[in-house]
Amino acid sequence: MNKTEDFWDSASKNYDKTEERFEYIHNKSRENTKSFLKDSDTVLDYGCGTGTASCQFSSQVKEIHAIDISSKMIEIAKEKAAVSKIENVRFEQSDIFDKKYSDESYDVILAFNMLHTVTSPRDVMQRINELLKPEGIFISVTPCLRQKMSFLVNLQIQLVRVLCKFGLIPIPIRRITSSEVDELLEAVEFQTIESEEIYKGASSYFVVAKKLQKT
Ligand SMILES: C[S@@+](CC[C@H](N)C(=O)[O-])C[C@H]1O[C@@H](n2cnc3c(N)ncnc32)[C@H](O)[C@@H]1O
Repeated sequence: MNKTEDFWDSASKNYDKTEERFEYIHNKSRENTKSFLKDSDTVLDYGCGTGTASCQFSSQVKEIHAIDISSKMIEIAKEKAAVSKIENVRFEQSDIFDKKYSDESYDVILAFNMLHTVTSPRDVMQRINELLKPEGIFISVTPCLRQKMSFLVNLQIQLVRVLCKFGLIPIPIRRITSSEVDELLEAVEFQTIESEEIYKGASSYFVVAKKLQKT
């Protein structure tokens, strides 16, 4: 097991509880997302965590493939889906770079609270570009840790940065801005359809972008 997987496994138990602080941002971004989903869609939820979003979207789409590198996150997600008798979400411990995924196989790819924690956001966007069908939709929400935030959240972020510096948190926590997210989308030539800076104690950038058909 690598350090990233190990870190997210240990975060899994209290993940939903700690995320309650940002409930407004989660709810708002999920509500925004719903209007872009169709009942014919095959969706990839990249870094699905404990599966809350996938479970909420399941009734609106054909199927969801929800992946996460943490087996413990996936265990919790599967339990959640079983309790709600959800059958069209396939939870799997996996990485988006796994070669088994076919190019242009998803109508929608979700990356919720992901881009600030991955090793290379550019490589991730390139991979998403490969996996999305032409005219497919990418939807993300990204905490923007260099933008407006409350004193308390700022204090927590500073603590996290210290822990990262001393190797106690073995994942990158990027201080990404909404403009940097836009640049990532421009780099793969996605067309932004909708974007919103959501703020409630912390800034998060919600964006919907389309992969254009090559002419
Ligand atoms: C901040 S959490 C976000 C979870 C969920 N999307 C949400 O919005 O609550 C990041 C998740 O990404 C997963 N993750 C990190 N790197 C990954 C990778 N390379 N492939 C798949 N999942 C990954 C972690 O295990 C963790 O569950």
